[in-house]
Amino acid sequence: MKKRMLSGIKPTGQLTLGNYIGALRNFVNYQDDYEMIVFIANLHCITEYQDPEDLKKNLTDAVALYLACGLDPNKATIFLQTDVPAHAQLGYIMACNTYLGELNRMTQFKDKSAKGEKNLTAGLYTYPCLMAADILLYDANYVPVGEDQKQHVELTRDIAQRFNNKYGETFVVPEPLIAKVGARIMSLTDPSKKMSKSDETNKGCIYLLDDPKVARKKIMSAVTDSLNDIKLDKENQPGLYNLIEIASALSGRSMEDIVEEFKGQGYGKLKGYVADVVCDTLEKIQGRYKEIIESRQIEKVLEEGAQKASAIANKTLDKAVKKIGLEIKYQ
Ligand code: AMP
Ligand code: TRP
Repeated sequence: MKKRMLSGIKPTGQLTLGNYIGALRNFVNYQDDYEMIVFIANLHCITEYQDPEDLKKNLTDAVALYLACGLDPNKATIFLQTDVPAHAQLGYIMACNTYLGELNRMTQFKDKSAKGEKNLTAGLYTYPCLMAADILLYDANYVPVGEDQKQHVELTRDIAQRFNNKYGETFVVPEPLIAKVGARIMSLTDPSKKMSKSDETNKGCIYLLDDPKVARKKIMSAVTDSLNDIKLDKENQPGLYNLIEIASALSGRSMEDIVEEFKGQGYGKLKGYVADVVCDTLEKIQGRYKEIIESRQIEKVLEEGAQKASAIANKTLDKAVKKIGLEIKYQ
């Protein structure tokens, strides 16, 4: 039997090249060898205020982009988190099996609080509990994610083991799966920060729906260094390293091979190559994205996905609820 793999993306704003390289691209590569379940984590989106109209548009775009990037609904189960209410139900049970000390250690939340952001919500604080439910509902063996999500998957393991010890064998304990290349793509304007949807200037982040001309400009003006020497030195030349990593992830060539080709030439030449590879990827994705939006197949994909997902999730929820000593009788 194929091992099961599950992952989600939270489409607050548009999907980025970081999402593609760190997550989506891998889902596509795994869908033949694993039983793949991918969902749009829309409950996670609302941990911070979203304009309702933007949220709707971003959800549709995210599904269309999943498909445009090569996820095949005949192979993978694709659905919206809100279409399977078991996520929120088990999420609450997970919150009752998570310690405050564990949530206090989550770096993503700590970073946000350290920035002094006001009015952070309880939903944002407990979001790792919902994420644990997302994963455990499906008996997932592996969770392919970018580096930033590793800590949340490790917490999920701890919660699963704790629950199993307390109530008896219930959940499969999952493992995070982090790709060797591209697990953390950095901002083009500040290579000490992750490339992120919340980039204020928009210049550091390439979106999958960016006009390729705009994307090329962003790459050509990416921050590098004044050493003028093409080599792999992540510590002293993080901007350059990031560009080579992007090109490597998208072209399938090794980073060393790319360095070998451009060694001794100016950064402009290398950037031109990175821009070519990125634009080629964007053009292919955007071409398919247009076809998918026009074909109106999204509704059907989501309906079938939700049915398949619910069948698995409801069984696990039922099992967990009964182990605790409760019962959902009349749902
Ligand atoms: P998010 O957009 O935060 O929901 O992230 C969805 C997936 O994309 C997760 O697996 C992240 O780890 C991954 N991801 C997001 N940004 C990056 C990035 N800059 N580099 C690599 N992976 C990323
Ligand atoms: N928290 C993830 C992120 O922000 C998205 C996510 C939600 C997820 N639930 C998940 C990823 C379950 C993997 C598995 O990127």
